[in-house]
Amino acid sequence: MREASPLFVERRDLTLKQFAHPFARLAIDSAMLGALALRAHFLGSLKIETKGIANFVSSADLAAEAAVVQSIQKHAPEHAIISEESHRDQVDAEHVWIIDPLDGTSNFLHGIPHFAVSIGYFHRGLPSFGVICNPVTEDWYAAAQGQGAWHNGQRVHVSTASELNQAMIACGFYYDRGRMMQATLDTLASLYQSEIHGMRRIGAAALDLAYVACGQFEAFFEYRLSPWDYAAGMLLVSEAGGRISDCFGHPLSLANMSSVCATNGHLHDAMLTVLSPHARSL
Ligand code: IPD
Ligand code: CA
Ligand code: CA
Repeated sequence: MREASPLFVERRDLTLKQFAHPFARLAIDSAMLGALALRAHFLGSLKIETKGIANFVSSADLAAEAAVVQSIQKHAPEHAIISEESHRDQVDAEHVWIIDPLDGTSNFLHGIPHFAVSIGYFHRGLPSFGVICNPVTEDWYAAAQGQGAWHNGQRVHVSTASELNQAMIACGFYYDRGRMMQATLDTLASLYQSEIHGMRRIGAAALDLAYVACGQFEAFFEYRLSPWDYAAGMLLVSEAGGRISDCFGHPLSLANMSSVCATNGHLHDAMLTVLSPHARSL
């Protein structure tokens, strides 16, 4: 599975064509290199290390990260890089790239084809370009500030649902088996009491955000994520017409971990009303 298929290349080119942005090509080409590294390792034998409870880093994470970082460093050597497994440059630099080389490591390690490369480019602290790519389904999601959110070259928008009882909601569980896990479970119970259509925990926050942007999920929440989990997805959600904040409605941090609530906008206040009491207990 190492080679890019014709469909994968075609969708990449369609994606790139939608943007007039100085770093769209670099972001998308770098994501492709990361994606090819992941394809080469998927379902193969891997070296796996444990970072904490149910939190792993594999040789695939490291290979994809090396591919993405080397590509950005080669073409933009003066830009700052923050990437999950290795780089921690200054977040207040003029040009900053925030990279999750493999979002959905647990899925990857279990052979579940739902994971992504996620790359966000920030200019003077503001989200400017984001790309998320699932190397197995060959889906490309990308957004540029002021130029909309796109899926495989098609413009996407958040859903129009305006009541929780019309919503499919995604969540994530941070690597915690104590209060945060309980708060997440309690939140799910509260949401089900609002008669939501259902909830999904499909294991890759970047793709959860892309699905909010595409209108498949009305909302997504998680009580703790890192900037690389949402660096690209935050722009997709806002460019698709949605809202993204922490669970109290504050802007997301690029410097620290944060809770995340992303919605189609119509449901944002309703979601914050459910989430914030649970978030306050953490
Ligand atoms: C994880 C995934 C997961 C979320 C975790 C993240 P990783 O990222 O996005 O869905 O629930 O909190 O850490 O570790 O696979 O890059
Ligand atoms: Ca991640
Ligand atoms: Ca990761």
